[in-house]
Amino acid sequence: MIIRPRRLRRTSHIRKMVRETYIKADNLIFPIFVKHGKGEREPIPSMVGQYQLSVDELVKEAEEVRSLGISGIILFGLPRVKDKVGSEAYAKDGIVQKAVAAVKETVPELVVLTDVCLCQYTDHGHCGIIQDGRVDNDATLDILSRVAISHAEAGADFVSPSDMMDGRVKAIREILERDGFKDTGILAYAVKYASSFYGPFREAADSKPQFGDRRSYQMDPANAREAIKESLLDVEEGADIIMVKPALPYLDIINQVRSHIHLPVAAYNVSGEYAMVKAADQQGWIDGEEVMMEMLFSIRRAGADLILTYFAKDAAKILATHER
Ligand code: PBG
Repeated sequence: MIIRPRRLRRTSHIRKMVRETYIKADNLIFPIFVKHGKGEREPIPSMVGQYQLSVDELVKEAEEVRSLGISGIILFGLPRVKDKVGSEAYAKDGIVQKAVAAVKETVPELVVLTDVCLCQYTDHGHCGIIQDGRVDNDATLDILSRVAISHAEAGADFVSPSDMMDGRVKAIREILERDGFKDTGILAYAVKYASSFYGPFREAADSKPQFGDRRSYQMDPANAREAIKESLLDVEEGADIIMVKPALPYLDIINQVRSHIHLPVAAYNVSGEYAMVKAADQQGWIDGEEVMMEMLFSIRRAGADLILTYFAKDAAKILATHER
């Protein structure tokens, strides 16, 4: 007798009935770049379909994102000026602070996350304070805490430190508690690799390091055990959600982190992963929508509960047709 696995693949209804993994708009978070000005909707050349938005445009976008059933957005700011310490990052009237307040006023139920980092705001493009030509860990913690508090004051639901300084989750958690923001969560970029897949983002956010690279703070792509160490540390320091980034070249890491910790695990399907699909789709070399869904399934299969992805809107539109 032949064993026939194909019986479970015969019709689309049978296939759906026995499906193991789902992608839901509820589990997607859409990253958005926000800039000063009015009526601005500037296309990002390396990220087809993505824009830098002024706050008024962002509010419209937030309404659309919500209407598609997507749970949240994560905001990245483009400051008016950059300086040595990234002071717009913690300014009361900084771009992200204004953006958060505007979105929370118009679409209060949309979960708003903010990226807490300095690289877009510093003139040297590093994620921390430079002392003697090096990124100084502990001096950076004070500034990051100020950034996190300013986002919490503006109304952010979660702050997301992406700088990879040691001890930053603890520093931010303590200051949030001290200042009365006990309900503001921390989604920690716990496992963030020094990746070239961030290329298009650095163009979109104008955040390339002006000297050297980020290898003294972001992780070596060859390391897996270290991912568990970083995740456990952030759990201990008080993170609410643990993130692995990038996603596709690190599916094994997502899987291992999922099995070692008991918090929700997020994966960041980063700019380079998005750009490659869009570029090949435009050339007619792949079917971009199909490839996108396949990629998102792989990230969910690996064990991610949440996915931060520039594909969020595209995917939510497909999911709404109930064809998958
Ligand atoms: C800021 C930050 C980066 C990304 C998210 N937050 C860039 C970097 O670390 O250089 C990358 C996101 C993406 O590529 O989509 N530190």
